[in-house]
Amino acid sequence: MSRIPLFLFFIFMSIEPVYNEESFIFKHPINNIAVGRQYIIVATENCLYKLNRTLQMLKTTGPHGENDRVCTEEQVSARQPTYYNKILLVYNDTVLTCWNEEKGSCRELHVDTLKAVGNTLPCIVPQDPEHAARGLIFFKENSINLFVAKFNKIKGCEEDIGTIILRSKTNDAFTIKDSLSFLALNDNRAGLNYVDAFQWKDMFIFPYNPSAGSTARVVVLHENDQLLSFHTQSNLTCGSKLQRKIILSSFSFHSSEGFLWAGIFTTNNTASNDRTALCIYNFTVLEKRSNGCINKDFSYKDDGCINYSNLVSLHETPTLTHGNLTAVHVKEVERRLVFFLGTGDGKLLKVTLNSNYTANCPEVLHAFTDKAPVFRTIHMDPVDINYLYVATVKEIKRLKIANCGQHESCNDCLSAYDPHCGWCHSENRCTMKTECTSSTALGKWIGITEGFRKCLKIKVFPKDGKIAVSIEKNPFLFDENAPWNCEITNKDTKKTICSGKNKAPSLNCSCEFPAHNIYDTATLSAAAQSNSIAFSAQFQFQKCSQYSAFSCLDCISSGCLWCTKASRCTSPLSQCESDYVDEDQCRVIEEKATQGSSSNDKCRVIKSKTANGSSANALHICFSHPDWLFYLLAVWISCLYPVSM
Ligand SMILES: *[C@@H]1O[C@H](CO)[C@@H](O)[C@H](O)[C@H]1NC(C)=O
Ligand SMILES: *[C@@H]1O[C@H](CO)[C@@H](O)[C@H](O)[C@H]1NC(C)=O
Ligand SMILES: *[C@@H]1O[C@H](CO)[C@@H](O)[C@H](O)[C@H]1NC(C)=O
Ligand SMILES: *[C@@H]1O[C@H](CO)[C@@H](O)[C@H](O)[C@H]1NC(C)=O
Ligand SMILES: *[C@@H]1O[C@H](CO)[C@@H](O)[C@H](O)[C@H]1NC(C)=O
Ligand SMILES: *[C@@H]1O[C@H](CO)[C@@H](O)[C@H](O)[C@H]1NC(C)=O
Repeated sequence: MSRIPLFLFFIFMSIEPVYNEESFIFKHPINNIAVGRQYIIVATENCLYKLNRTLQMLKTTGPHGENDRVCTEEQVSARQPTYYNKILLVYNDTVLTCWNEEKGSCRELHVDTLKAVGNTLPCIVPQDPEHAARGLIFFKENSINLFVAKFNKIKGCEEDIGTIILRSKTNDAFTIKDSLSFLALNDNRAGLNYVDAFQWKDMFIFPYNPSAGSTARVVVLHENDQLLSFHTQSNLTCGSKLQRKIILSSFSFHSSEGFLWAGIFTTNNTASNDRTALCIYNFTVLEKRSNGCINKDFSYKDDGCINYSNLVSLHETPTLTHGNLTAVHVKEVERRLVFFLGTGDGKLLKVTLNSNYTANCPEVLHAFTDKAPVFRTIHMDPVDINYLYVATVKEIKRLKIANCGQHESCNDCLSAYDPHCGWCHSENRCTMKTECTSSTALGKWIGITEGFRKCLKIKVFPKDGKIAVSIEKNPFLFDENAPWNCEITNKDTKKTICSGKNKAPSLNCSCEFPAHNIYDTATLSAAAQSNSIAFSAQFQFQKCSQYSAFSCLDCISSGCLWCTKASRCTSPLSQCESDYVDEDQCRVIEEKATQGSSSNDKCRVIKSKTANGSSANALHICFSHPDWLFYLLAVWISCLYPVSM
């Protein structure tokens, strides 16, 4: 094996998570997934499945809600033609399924038995497998209403005229009230591929891909007494450099900063290295865009409409770009947005945004062994919000949303910048908040904070021929007003090197020791103690050289010096005289390093494990040197670039 594949092997080995979660494998490719109060309903080609929360199969039927040999028996040749599921919705005790068979019919099944209740509704979804349809159920007063947004009218269905149709349930059937209960396409439009349908306040929102070459759009409707009216419409532009015009996956969500929408966009230019991108839009602004002009996709009379500007994504750029994203799911945790992104090669990535909506380096939360593309919708466990259902082509898995246990020290735990993870003192490990039994004050769980990504910052600098160590503690360690001591020990010899004491409450504790060469290779331990609570962090001067300009702050909070002239992180024993930087200067250096980097010149953080299995510091790999370009090409599928476009 050559040098490079070995290197890659190491990376892929090291990021392989140790999960053994529940999963289920289907006979046919997945078409739709819906989650009810207790069940997971999955429609594959030809078959419908009901699974319990831990993905044990409870029942399977064919499209008609009855036993079907194609679904129940191992050895049955495939059905001709194949039935594709177009819409799958679960509400109350009912599963609504729409298949392309029999003029595109929908049926309602009872969730317990998966047996049909009520009549079959013909002519609702397209028969062409390529043509998309999306559905939405909403309750209003005492009525149950169904929106269906589909490609165009259905061939052979005289009564079907629209592209977006509102039906209301009367006498066990969904019926159209009026000619104003649907929207028709403009005559010169072949059809629209809707990617989602959702409601916010009194707005019904439909993002869609128009014909090839046009940019993605969103149309927003109002409903009043089952009659429809246009609210507004906009193009959805995701960055300007690469024309990523097609939406692959859509996720709308409420956050403390308003109603937001995230989309995975792609360009049809397959040669591009970062073909796909995540863009986030503030849909709160849609509320104020009433009476907007509607693009000629729809048959529409404009009488005095207003032309609003296009909706642009936050920061007017993609939040991140990547070679092959397929799915997005978002959760707000401790006021930070956490993104779960599926990739075309079967990985589930986790990315956290800071308060300025900038992405951190992604973590691979799970890698499917078959490397098949992740299915476009990711769902949360309806009972335990710490789990997600993530699928590939034929497999669905229940995955935990955080892998806190991989961070072995308090500093590793907080510097991972995962809002799900924090240091659980009572158990002396990195856990999710709900996993920490914090019955006592000692058992406090310390989560991430934006300004302080460590438990203990170890700052070392030369002072009068000696080495001065200052330990700065995380403000959430110990009681704010409690005095505390610090101590530096040589972990190998277990000898105390120096110690300090705080008389008054302070975030800092310091001591000095002679600059001796033996400390260059030794593992040193910095401990902070208050009453019976102690925290410690290890550092090693010989590791200083691993920090790059992208991680200046990590350099100077890990017992190293950042030398300005040499532009590198060094051991304080091989000093850079007086030209080392403080925290503020370091921040500027890091910002410059990130800004100046293009997508081919980015800092990657790959969490690696050292040979003895203990967690090493995050290894920052910088692709600025031409040698790295080769690695970049090889590993880029597993890499994401926070982007400045
Ligand atoms: C169905 O669910 C909706 C929303 O959860 C609720 O408002 C409605 O009352 C339910 N209807 C029935 C018949 O249970
Ligand atoms: C790809 O995109 C270009 C420009 O956006 C467009 O002209 C072309 O028709 C598209 N091709 C396909 C196959 O969608
Ligand atoms: C979205 O827009 C609303 C209203 O304009 C604003 O209050 C909110 O802060 C915005 N959110 C973000 C994330 O920009
Ligand atoms: C809105 O913009 C379209 C396309 O640019 C234009 O044809 C139309 O006249 C404009 N309508 C108004 C009311 O300004
Ligand atoms: C927030 O991020 C944007 C884009 O990345 C950047 O231009 C801006 O300076 C940042 N603002 C702050 C306060 O960091
Ligand atoms: C702790 O020391 C650092 C320098 O090492 C200094 O920047 C910071 O202001 C000090 N903090 C306190 C609370 O004394």
